[in-house]
Amino acid sequence: MIDKIKEHIAIVAGFQASNKEEVEAFRIKYLGKKGFLNQFFAEFKNVPNDEKKEFGQAINTLKTTAQEKVALLKDAFEGAQEENGVYGDLSRPSEPVEIGSRHPISIVKNQIIEIFSNIGFNVSEGPEIEDDWHNFTALNLPEYHPARDMQDTFFIQTDPDILLRTHTSSVQVRYMENNQPPIRTISPGRVFRNEAISARSHCIFHQVEGLYIDKDVSFADLKQTLLYFTKQMFGKSRIRLRPSYFPFTEPSAEVDIYWGLETETDYRITKGTGWLEIMGCGMVDPNVLKNCGIDPTEYSGFAFGMGIERIAMLLYQIGDIRMFYENDIRFLEQFKSTI
Ligand code: PHE
Repeated sequence: MIDKIKEHIAIVAGFQASNKEEVEAFRIKYLGKKGFLNQFFAEFKNVPNDEKKEFGQAINTLKTTAQEKVALLKDAFEGAQEENGVYGDLSRPSEPVEIGSRHPISIVKNQIIEIFSNIGFNVSEGPEIEDDWHNFTALNLPEYHPARDMQDTFFIQTDPDILLRTHTSSVQVRYMENNQPPIRTISPGRVFRNEAISARSHCIFHQVEGLYIDKDVSFADLKQTLLYFTKQMFGKSRIRLRPSYFPFTEPSAEVDIYWGLETETDYRITKGTGWLEIMGCGMVDPNVLKNCGIDPTEYSGFAFGMGIERIAMLLYQIGDIRMFYENDIRFLEQFKSTI
């Protein structure tokens, strides 16, 4: 009898299965209710006393060998099934990696920068917290000038000389103070105005302003530059310049592009005229050049400024400026871009 058990131990130890079903059959054969192991246990009472110890040990060895074998094979087959089945490849990352997207304001800003850098403009930046000189006085807006009211300024309460810049023209003042012509620079940045927040306006927004100063720069140069820009940016080649007023430019103009009247949206956004205002511009006032250390008898130049949000709203047909600042992922993830 003992020899028979030892034979089974060897069989169990060498057992191999090719699938889960074979393992289960093997388990029933040895460890099941009517399996070999229970049969041997049943024999136990008939074994002579002096052999009981050796017999008992042999059955126990058979039992543990069979249990270990079943556990090992089961693991192997179930593991393999998980790998190919429900869990897929266990070595893959647990969650898909979400690719972020650039903010629409950055996309449009980068497009504007690229268009102007292609014709030789560099990028200049300056502080958001400005002093009165760079935001107003140097730009031909002395104290008590009524045009200061147009700008709805946020002042730092403890010091009326310090404010949040209302336009990036302040950066151009800094640039002129530190560089002599020829100057070709654009100044993108965040600006602040104390305005009621609505679908159309916000107290924080972004601008790109441009400045070109050299000998013999004329209004015709300004117009051609703007035409080049609107063609590149919007694919539109009809613009019109309407007389306007800015303290720092003379003459000054508002730039409209002909958007067209093809769709209902075109009617709505152009108020039925087909024309859309996109920026302000003008020839830099000689006083501004003088204030910034540039000789106006030798040099002349033009400047222009536009709101990035406004252009992004046009390009992407966004109806509410507040969406840019809410950081709603459902809004942001629609803007995938390489620029
Ligand atoms: N600085 C003006 C604004 O903030 C825009 C502008 C810039 C107009 C340059 C003319 C020339 O609205």
